[in-house]
Amino acid sequence: MPVSLSPALEPFLDLLRCPTCRTALHPDHAALRCPAGHTFDIARHGYVSLLTGTRATSGDDAAMARARDRFLSTGRYGPIRQAVARLAAGAVPEQGTVVDVGCGTGYYLAGVLDQLPGARGLGLDTSVRALRSTARAHARAAAVTWDVFRPFPLADGIADIVLDVFAPRNPSEFHRVLRPTGRLVVVRPTGRHLAELRGQVPAVVTIDPAKEQRLSKALTPFFETSSTEQIEYATPLTRTEALDLVGMTPSARHLNRADLAENGLLPDQVTVSVLATAYRPR
Ligand SMILES: C[S@@+](CC[C@H](N)C(=O)[O-])C[C@H]1O[C@@H](n2cnc3c(N)ncnc32)[C@H](O)[C@@H]1O
Ligand SMILES: [Zn+2]
Repeated sequence: MPVSLSPALEPFLDLLRCPTCRTALHPDHAALRCPAGHTFDIARHGYVSLLTGTRATSGDDAAMARARDRFLSTGRYGPIRQAVARLAAGAVPEQGTVVDVGCGTGYYLAGVLDQLPGARGLGLDTSVRALRSTARAHARAAAVTWDVFRPFPLADGIADIVLDVFAPRNPSEFHRVLRPTGRLVVVRPTGRHLAELRGQVPAVVTIDPAKEQRLSKALTPFFETSSTEQIEYATPLTRTEALDLVGMTPSARHLNRADLAENGLLPDQVTVSVLATAYRPR
């Protein structure tokens, strides 16, 4: 018996394009198909696999995505989510579209959609475990596998907001998919972010001080700054939360959870310090 398209995906078909030939995609059983016959499976977990036949350059493994899911559900990053929602809310019309690139588990996308009752949100990521969570993160959210470093499988000028929270960036593609009235919202850490973890846990990746300059250089040809918020606060951490916070960073691959917990290296409080900027397309 044919499996029908998940109703949750139906409202997103106008945004999507075949990654191979750039034509529109249509539902075909439990897949999306373009007129030339390129076919993309809809996973049982609700996301669409558009990144087929190629290995992604980077992305979270299942253990990292699970740690991220657990940590974000504690609400410790709630103030970041609120800032993202504030910056996004001003720029989205009633029936607007939000695209979250490197969406992870969809935590920030869901936070923005909560503030925008008529909007829909599409998450892109290479991590299938993370996208399972995104597909469930909000009733008006959908998720597709994609590598940010390749041309996006999206039509031109379809997004009111592009979100990029702690994720890799592709400025020219952000610009192409945004409407001229849209906004790009970028969140990145300052040098003080999680300083206590960086001080105590060996191998936790340090933040390059030239990062802000590199961001500005990469975005300037396509965007100008509209407004920036600095979010900085101290938050207490349980041992499990500290382990998850380490576990969701790339350094997790070099560390052993048990060793970390036993060696008394985990702080019971950390500084959260990030910048969130809304940019206007040039
Ligand atoms: C630090 S996490 C941030 C996730 C989410 N925005 C959040 O803040 O919770 C970085 C995310 O980017 C994804 N990612 C890494 N490389 C990517 C790539 N080349 N294309 C798309 N996503 C990528 C990872 O899988 C991960 O979900
Ligand atoms: Zn095609």
